[in-house]
Amino acid sequence: MLRKSNTTEPRDLGDQFALLVSGVVDYGIFMLDPTGVIVTWNEGAQRIKGYAADEIIGRHFSVFYPAEAVRNRKPDWELEVAKREGRYEEEGWRIRKDGTRFWANVIITALRDESGRLRGFGKVTRDLSERHAEEVHRSAEREREAMLLRAHAERMAELERTKTHFLNLASHELRGPLTVIRGYNSMLADGSIPPAQIPAVSRLLEIKLAQMDRLVEQMLETARLEDDAPELADETFDLRLVAQEQIDVFRPLAEGRLLLMDGGDLDVVVRGDRLRIATIVANLIDNALKYSPQGGEVHCRVGRRESQAYVTVRDAGLGIAAEHMPRLFTRFGRLPTDENVTIPGTGLGLFLCKEIAARHGGDITVVSAPGMGSEFTLVLPSTI
Ligand SMILES: Nc1ncnc2c1ncn2[C@@H]1O[C@H](COP(=O)(O)OP(=O)(O)OP(=O)(O)O)[C@@H](O)[C@H]1O
Ligand SMILES: [Mg+2]
Repeated sequence: MLRKSNTTEPRDLGDQFALLVSGVVDYGIFMLDPTGVIVTWNEGAQRIKGYAADEIIGRHFSVFYPAEAVRNRKPDWELEVAKREGRYEEEGWRIRKDGTRFWANVIITALRDESGRLRGFGKVTRDLSERHAEEVHRSAEREREAMLLRAHAERMAELERTKTHFLNLASHELRGPLTVIRGYNSMLADGSIPPAQIPAVSRLLEIKLAQMDRLVEQMLETARLEDDAPELADETFDLRLVAQEQIDVFRPLAEGRLLLMDGGDLDVVVRGDRLRIATIVANLIDNALKYSPQGGEVHCRVGRRESQAYVTVRDAGLGIAAEHMPRLFTRFGRLPTDENVTIPGTGLGLFLCKEIAARHGGDITVVSAPGMGSEFTLVLPSTI
């Protein structure tokens, strides 16, 4: 684009050409003397940098550079390169008169007379701020896409690992009760169990079958959570009854250990999936019994505090070290304790408890210390 010159009086250059240059508005085109002092100015330079000709002619061209570049003597260095090689080109930040910066394409050309003597430099500057902003935007976009892809790939790899882990654990955990069932069954078949013992054996088989049932159910529930939205039933019920039922279920398995239930006098009504809430309570009681191998009572308390209903299960067992807490509610989050070498489990119980509680607008919290026992609390929104 050309406009009639009104800013610069061309000096040394051929008049026609100088006139042409002075009217170019898309490019800043001007000359420097051999020391870098500005000697001509054009319309485009004024438009891009904001200085009028009479403000800038006579000043050193380093005014266009950021302070840091000036400190590093970059402008002088650029002139040196142009002097040595005939030309210097770069893209970089430059500063306008008002202090704002713009992204410039800069070409500095050494101008010599016929005898080779340096007469000065021609400088052509283009404002590429828009293009630069687009490039920055595009590369941010590309980076974002790459990140999403990486995250996806990591998630797929994690799923693969999880699946393998899952299959290993599940087959290991299922094989345990299966071996027991097979053993008793062959004893039943060859008549080596006295008839009087059969009811006791049957109860034991029942326990082993229940273990297998539970594991299969946990695996299915984990898979449902992976798929995101398990269908939750919407029922209204008293949490105290749920807890009492679970205490009753566990009593025969607790081998005479004391399971205490304190339900208070208040109704503790909640809304949600009764069966799943019952499973949470069952998992907490199961853990309380399992992780207190020295015995001690397991105490279950149900109540209401402000707008929250809670079930607390307390044991006097092994307790949990602070450094293990972050692992507690993770999938397959079995703790690396000495005791866990002999205590069976998949590490799915608390993970499922936490997920299901969260999907009811609730949570599971824990207070525990090694050797002091543990207290797990299921908190749910109360409907009263
Ligand atoms: N009451 C507790 N006392 C001490 N440690 C506990 C207690 N409850 C859970 N833990 C620890 O937390 C880990 C995770 O518990 P979680 O119930 O998720 O899995 P699990 O009991 O190992 O297996 P699963 O419940 O699937 O049979 C356990 O392996 C155990 O080390
Ligand atoms: Mg458990």
